[in-house]
Amino acid sequence: MRWTKLATIVIGIGICGGFALVAAQNAEPSATPAPVELACSLDDLQAQQAALAATLATFEQDAAEDPGAALDALFKTGAAYQELALACGYIPADAATRAVGTDVERILRALDTVSGDPLNGQLLYNGALACASCHEVGGGTVAPHTAGTYTRVEETRLADPLLADYSIEQYLVESIVQPGSYVVPNYTNVMPNLFGDSLTLQELADLVAFLESQDGPSPE
Ligand code: HEC
Repeated sequence: MRWTKLATIVIGIGICGGFALVAAQNAEPSATPAPVELACSLDDLQAQQAALAATLATFEQDAAEDPGAALDALFKTGAAYQELALACGYIPADAATRAVGTDVERILRALDTVSGDPLNGQLLYNGALACASCHEVGGGTVAPHTAGTYTRVEETRLADPLLADYSIEQYLVESIVQPGSYVVPNYTNVMPNLFGDSLTLQELADLVAFLESQDGPSPE
């Protein structure tokens, strides 16, 4: 009898411990980056890595002659290495909270690792980012309407041969981080070209999720 009781307690503790462990694991942000596939060829990666290494070949001598310039080169080479890893598909563990930048292909890969919250997207759109100041105010004269964006992109924009092979998500992302790449007919390119430097991946995912919820006809 006593043993059964003890066993129950031990199992109980084991289960609770298991839950606590799972909870703790869920609470901790993942330290390891998401698994990725090389987005550039290994040969290419090695060639570029060798080119970067060459920029520091004379570092010792440069540092003796002009320490400032040598450290500057070291710093820039470090940044270039990070750029190379990102361009080849690396998604850092803190990707969701960094500025997304303007490389649409890279952003689309990273977007696969987060899920967008359309309600937060709507809050940002109408509030802090003031997208609505152009896309709502002015009744479609300053900028295309918010309502119907998804359907308009699918049926009208993507039918433009200039956007052949674009996906809806790709078009939306490009419209936000590179507003000048494709200027919607009958509008001028007044949309600020700064969102890539300020939006995080999560914010962009939220905005895209909000815009994807805007289906149906556009207002007249
Ligand atoms: C200063 C005005 C202005 C602001 C602010 C602005 N936009 Fe725009 N946006 C435009 C204009 C004008 C166009 C159409 C011309 C073009 O393609 O650049 C446009 C185009 C777009 C398109 C393509 C719409 C379509 O029908 O094809 C999307 C998507 C978009 N903007 C999203 C946003 C988001 C998201 C924000 C906020 C983060 C934002 N815009 C902020 C003016 C603005």
